[in-house]
Amino acid sequence: MRRADLLVGCMGLGGGWDAEPVTDEQVEQAGAVVEAALAAGLTWFDHADIYTRGKAEEAFGRALAERPGLRERIGLQSKCGILLPGEGGVMCSGETHGRYDSSPEHVRRSLEGSLARLRTDHLDVLLVHRPDPLTHPGELGRTLDALVAEGLVRQVGVSNHSPAQVDRLQAGMSEPLVVNQLETSLAARGWVESGVLVNTDEGARVGFPHGALEQALAGGPRVQGWGALAQGRYSGRASSATDPLEAAREEQTARRVAALAAEHGTTPESIVLAWLQRHPARVAPVVGTTSPQRIAACADAAAGRVHLSRAEWYELWVTARGGPLP
Ligand SMILES: NC(=O)c1ccc[n+]([C@@H]2O[C@H](COP(=O)([O-])OP(=O)(O)OC[C@H]3O[C@@H](n4cnc5c(N)ncnc54)[C@H](OP(=O)(O)O)[C@@H]3O)[C@@H](O)[C@H]2O)c1
Repeated sequence: MRRADLLVGCMGLGGGWDAEPVTDEQVEQAGAVVEAALAAGLTWFDHADIYTRGKAEEAFGRALAERPGLRERIGLQSKCGILLPGEGGVMCSGETHGRYDSSPEHVRRSLEGSLARLRTDHLDVLLVHRPDPLTHPGELGRTLDALVAEGLVRQVGVSNHSPAQVDRLQAGMSEPLVVNQLETSLAARGWVESGVLVNTDEGARVGFPHGALEQALAGGPRVQGWGALAQGRYSGRASSATDPLEAAREEQTARRVAALAAEHGTTPESIVLAWLQRHPARVAPVVGTTSPQRIAACADAAAGRVHLSRAEWYELWVTARGGPLP
């Protein structure tokens, strides 16, 4: 199995976020995603216990069961730690809301559910989906260590964590945290702007956790980028921005992406992903498309065949942000 340099996100599998049973069509769709991914050289799949309320894992697990020998050829990653509304969430103003739970009991129960739905005896990577303020990091670290020791997961990591939270969790455990999954894309540029807009008012408004890339560069968890295709806004999907200025900026960026794709002999999707991959921290994009054609369009990026020059990289950044760098 190759390294997890580019992953297929499975949040879109399994239909709606409802209690309807998984259909044969949804299993077929999961199978088509797997086949397209393998053909494009993509062998890692990103899940979470909550995606479509477990149905994404269920559909994928059934597709996996129909393909003997496939489990050994792919990497399976899932996440735990979020409770959806209606599944132990909290009531507020007459509505139920989600909450977090990284207690030993919940993490173990969640993992067991993921393994059953995915029809596998182990995950390659388990991520803690979001920080749970009520779980002591030492307790969570011991839980994650135990799951690796028991062979239920090969490696562990986190998602949406700050470097300080990573450090504190890591200090109380033996296994290395190998991943911090964070939103990174040409649209959600905080991942790169947090390190450049320091000491500016604009920088103070960046939500990306400062230092996560530097932590990766120093040997800490690799940053996996969720939302990496920017939901298609630069690779074929019409802008849905309500602000006309933002819509114009997106269209201009999409035109530049298309031109670069033509110049490099590749697809817009691979250009958008190559923009992430160009950073020395080796961000690993997670692409959430369920379209076999769009997965195929990621093949050049998956193979590392697209290399943007410095000038191209900066030009795309400045075009997408719609204004000069400080
Ligand atoms: N850790 C976290 O907190 C977290 C949060 C969100 C997501 N994730 C993970 O990251 C993965 C990717 O996230 P994402 O889905 O937000 O990001 P994405 O890959 O940027 O966007 C995928 C979405 O955009 C649509 N899309 C892409 N190109 C399109 C085009 N040209 N025209 C029309 N629609 C297009 C896809 O629809 P089609 O399916 O029709 O292509 C899909 O709905 C998820 O699957 C999940 O595994 C993690």
